[in-house]
Amino acid sequence: MDHLAIYPGSFDPVTCGHLDLVHRALRVFPCLIVAVAINPRKKPMFSPQERVEMLRAALADESGVEVDSFSGLLVDYAKARKASIIIRGLRALSDFENEFQMAHMNHRLSPTLETFFMMTGQEHFYVSSQTVKEVAFFGGDISGLVPDVVIEKLRAKNGELST
Ligand code: PNS
Repeated sequence: MDHLAIYPGSFDPVTCGHLDLVHRALRVFPCLIVAVAINPRKKPMFSPQERVEMLRAALADESGVEVDSFSGLLVDYAKARKASIIIRGLRALSDFENEFQMAHMNHRLSPTLETFFMMTGQEHFYVSSQTVKEVAFFGGDISGLVPDVVIEKLRAKNGELST
């Protein structure tokens, strides 16, 4: 039986590092749900719908991927979707502690759910949604770091913010 895997995240916005991870994960897990977390405690730049739309556009040519969103606990969403695997990317050591805690907490809440970690591709390991937003805000070049659809959306969003 193929395991259904979920790649959860804020994706605010999706970066080329995220996309690289999706492409590589699909070689192992033929069915993958990329799940945008809706967290009312965070203040994202993009709405859940915008984040989903950017992911769908960036992954339009990829089969085996569904883009969805969820609120509440990831373990509950995984159960509802009958998924048994969580995929997370690890960039640097600084990611590790938080990921370690999350994986153990999720495992405690749902012991049959396993978290698989994949190393972020070496050309993407310094890229984060946060730094991309910062560079874009100050007019820096973010081409190659995020898909084209995100470049356009960031340009529009920063235009809105400065008016
Ligand atoms: O891209 P991010 O912000 O690093 O993703 C973090 C995310 C969305 C995977 C995590 O915050 C999450 O799973 N949120 C859903 C709520 C939840 O289950 N929290 C308990 C995790 S221990």
